[in-house]
Amino acid sequence: MKAVILVGGKGTRLYPLTLGTPKAMVPILNKPFLEHMISYLKKYDILDIVLAMGYLPDPIQSYFDDGSEFGVRITYLVEDKPLGTGGAVKNAEFLLEEPFFVFNGDVLTEIDLGNMARVHRETGTSVTMALTPVDDPSLYGVVETDTSGMVKQFMEKPSRDEAPTNMINAGIYIIEPEILGRIPSETFFMVERELFPVLLEEGQSISSYASDAYWIDIGTTDKYLKVNHDLLSREDLSSPCLQSDNDTSHHEAMIEGPVLLGKNCALGENVRIKGPAVIGDKCEVGDNATVEGAIVWQNSKMGRSSLLENCIIASNCHVGDNCHISSGCVLGDSVVIGDGSNLAQQTLVWPGHYLRCT
Ligand code: GDD
Ligand code: MG
Repeated sequence: MKAVILVGGKGTRLYPLTLGTPKAMVPILNKPFLEHMISYLKKYDILDIVLAMGYLPDPIQSYFDDGSEFGVRITYLVEDKPLGTGGAVKNAEFLLEEPFFVFNGDVLTEIDLGNMARVHRETGTSVTMALTPVDDPSLYGVVETDTSGMVKQFMEKPSRDEAPTNMINAGIYIIEPEILGRIPSETFFMVERELFPVLLEEGQSISSYASDAYWIDIGTTDKYLKVNHDLLSREDLSSPCLQSDNDTSHHEAMIEGPVLLGKNCALGENVRIKGPAVIGDKCEVGDNATVEGAIVWQNSKMGRSSLLENCIIASNCHVGDNCHISSGCVLGDSVVIGDGSNLAQQTLVWPGHYLRCT
């Protein structure tokens, strides 16, 4: 089966990380998010992939090219204006003859796609959607089903009181091509608001595949931090763990817990890194600095005696000496933080800014 992956959104809830990097290219364990997704699809022999793109398509296309290096075949479609989750699939209609998968391009999961395809075949419906349980369904598409798994109601982002269940649309569908006749061409159209609820109102059947396998939407900065932490804690890394392929110099660094260290990094004396934490390629950590739970992208420098706690530092940043970057802070690309700065919790710094605050 082919897969259409929706990667055209702006990823505004991940700002400032996605101001220069599309959500699909945001690194998770030092690899673009989409690379993880492609590995997942390959496990199910889904090798023909259509990427429906809009915002910042170039970095995606230049990294994945025709997909052959990653063992898949990729076709790129770029929207001139956002077409929404339905319009983007309609735009791929000329490539879709058989039933196909659609994936929201910001979901990392282990939902069993083989079992989902079996449910689709057995129920014979035009649409099958994967469901997952969450704590706060009001942030998602909430899906109520009957005892046989047929969808009764689809409500996109209802209030907490309105949500009839905590089972939500996991952002994975199997769709029969004839359904595309229900979506107008070249028009902004959301399947969550204009297709699924309408099909149900008309009495058409939508089946579901509920799963409690690992599932996360990486769409916010706290989820982004969490997915890195989750994967590091689950990866088969011995603890304490120092992973680096080559050329990383670390004098007397103290590494505790699962830590992924990129290539060609330089760690000063008495550096302490407490996992789960990720340091990208070509980073420098100055003498006596402490990194705790942070995710650092490539080519960033942390000054001497600085403390980084559960924060996200994008590429090419420079954190001065004696700084304290508190939990939940997010630095966009190429941010410079002056020596001795103290960043309060949850501070967001836009790319290219210089900040000095004590
Ligand atoms: N090509 C294209 N064009 N892709 C788009 C567009 C567009 O105009 N708009 C959004 N997308 C992509 C995004 O890049 C993302 O991968 C996916 O569609 C879903 O958009 P989000 O903006 O992340 O939606 P959401 O997270 O608020 O809600 C959706 O996902 C939830 C699961 O994570 C909905 O499908 C919910 O019903 C669902 O529960
Ligand atoms: Mg999302």
